[in-house]
Amino acid sequence: MEIEEKILDILYDNFNIYISGQIISKILEISRMSVSNYIKILKNKGYNISSSTNKGYILYQIPTTISKQSINYFLDNKNINMHIYDAIDSTNNKSKEYISDKYIKPSVIIAKKQTDGRGRFGKFFYSPDNTGIYMSIIISPNMYIKNSSYIIMATAIAVCDAIKQISNTYTKIKWINDIFLDEKKIGGILTEAFSNFETGKIEKIIIGIGLNISTKYFPQNIINIATSLNISINKNILIAKIIDNILNILDNFNKKDIIMKYRSLSMILDKQISFILNNKKIYGIAKDITDNGELIVISQNKNIYTLNSGEISIEISKKNYE
Ligand code: BTN
Repeated sequence: MEIEEKILDILYDNFNIYISGQIISKILEISRMSVSNYIKILKNKGYNISSSTNKGYILYQIPTTISKQSINYFLDNKNINMHIYDAIDSTNNKSKEYISDKYIKPSVIIAKKQTDGRGRFGKFFYSPDNTGIYMSIIISPNMYIKNSSYIIMATAIAVCDAIKQISNTYTKIKWINDIFLDEKKIGGILTEAFSNFETGKIEKIIIGIGLNISTKYFPQNIINIATSLNISINKNILIAKIIDNILNILDNFNKKDIIMKYRSLSMILDKQISFILNNKKIYGIAKDITDNGELIVISQNKNIYTLNSGEISIEISKKNYE
């Protein structure tokens, strides 16, 4: 680890408390002059550090720029690997470079900007610089492949809960992986599992999460369906909360709890929706979410469909079918 990072770690460990240059220099076995030079560099980078001749140095505010130290400061589960990038194609793509790491502990890959953010069905996930959260978590869940939809549901719950916990804003889930604020999408989840066919278990799963926090202008094709959370928050806190929530739900994995919570956060139950089946658009009412996470839809002509994947659209303008 670079000296600069080590100094930051010490300042974060002593957040809002003065620590003398002498102690820092002793811990890191460098001169006090070096400590003072590194502090200058950190201040120039925008860290809120104050210096006092008698007392030493103090970090008096946690920065809002996404950083490992700031996320760690807010995290309860500190036993994770974290990699942060200014700009990459996609955090899910980057995660594949880390997937073979022998770590049992989770890894988190975060980007301040993605040039090729991906959504489900090969869609593009617009990820401009510093206005959103673009992250992927790699975990080894010791879970059967058939249970992977619970991971998507648990993540959606974790995201909605985290947003509520830090901002008192109520978001909802559009089956199966979209996060909505009122009638517009603010984010989504893209999971990619790597499984062992012999054991039928997931060896590693990449959970990609994208959230628009303050993005103002969206590309023309999504301008009417996308929005941002639009609240002033420290993204480091939200990232930490999402990670903690996901790890806690999965640590105490309970299918019944997940489904119950997922249903309560669902925005589509009893709403008119449509989906494509064999190239045909079918309209219906979303009636229920089964214990396995499938969506039960009753169509206009009273057929019952059980959907376990695919995409649905909300049909606000259609008349009630019943
Ligand atoms: C969707 O809307 O269908 C899912 C969007 C998922 C976007 C996130 S952003 C972080 C991670 N990296 C990606 O390329 N995609 C996911």
